[in-house]
Amino acid sequence: METLKKSIEECDSVKELERLRVEVFGKKGYFAKEFAKLKELSGDEKIAYAARLNEEKDKFSELVNAKKSFLETKEYEDILKQDAVDVSLYSNIVNVGALHPVIDTMDKIIEYFVSLNFSVEDGPLVEDDFHNFEALNLPKFHPARDMQDTFYFKDGALLRTHTSPVQVRTMLSQDPPIRMICPGAVFRPDLDLTHTPMFHQIEGLVVDKRGAVSFANLKSILEEFLRYMFGSVKVRFRPSFFPFTEPSAEVDIGCIFCHGAGCRVCKNTGWLEVLGCGTVDQNVFNAVGYKNSSGYAFGLGIERFAMLLHKIPDLRSLFEGDLRLLEQFK
Ligand code: PHE
Repeated sequence: METLKKSIEECDSVKELERLRVEVFGKKGYFAKEFAKLKELSGDEKIAYAARLNEEKDKFSELVNAKKSFLETKEYEDILKQDAVDVSLYSNIVNVGALHPVIDTMDKIIEYFVSLNFSVEDGPLVEDDFHNFEALNLPKFHPARDMQDTFYFKDGALLRTHTSPVQVRTMLSQDPPIRMICPGAVFRPDLDLTHTPMFHQIEGLVVDKRGAVSFANLKSILEEFLRYMFGSVKVRFRPSFFPFTEPSAEVDIGCIFCHGAGCRVCKNTGWLEVLGCGTVDQNVFNAVGYKNSSGYAFGLGIERFAMLLHKIPDLRSLFEGDLRLLEQFK
């Protein structure tokens, strides 16, 4: 039995152990030989020897099983070790890009209005005087044109100063009811911390029968929209002027930086201007031949929203193409 124990200890694979077990229990094995000796014994001696042999058999099986489970675990662990991945190893770094913050903000705004059943319209960047100004109640030589100076081409065409001409184009090509937004680039000759010569707006226009669309509808939709963008902010409507809306308002949200305490961004007012809006001026309906209609419109600067959402201090940095800025938006 001592030699058996030793040979079990010497086994260092499950396979080897199995071979040993078969050998020991086999026809020419240890137990076969020992049991054969019983023939030569008799009486009590025979019984005692048989009992001892059976005990040895059990003991041997027990030892083999214990060693087997030990070896199995060890072999499994060896496999795991061999297959292990070295996570500290450098691999080929795949450099994926990301959406520009302006596009990302634009998408977020579009998604909101599309979920409210607004269609998304498009219009040309190079406009004519009629669509950009005249039809929007901005006749030639009207002083309100000073609000939006622009770049002119020799033939009188111009770079659109806002997305409002798309209101006109949509009304000229569709009958009411209308429920649309229009995202896109616009141009003005300004360049400072908060202005770039090209920036993006989203225009909104809702038109239905006279009396069906009110300023209250406009107010509630914009309040909800601003909470979707900025969380639970205070919203206020301030009387203002746009030639194409009457009455008109500018919309402010409570400063998301200082929460009303006063800071550099809100110029110590506690408020941030984010939108222009109003109910559509009858002169605009006259220009597009709409009769008995009522509607509201709004326009917002997407860069302004992106700046506020991501706390970007200088608007110009959005268009410098500096990867160090853009990589922060991955
Ligand atoms: N077009 C205006 C601007 O660019 C914004 C606006 C749109 C205001 C629609 C009222 C209604 O400033």
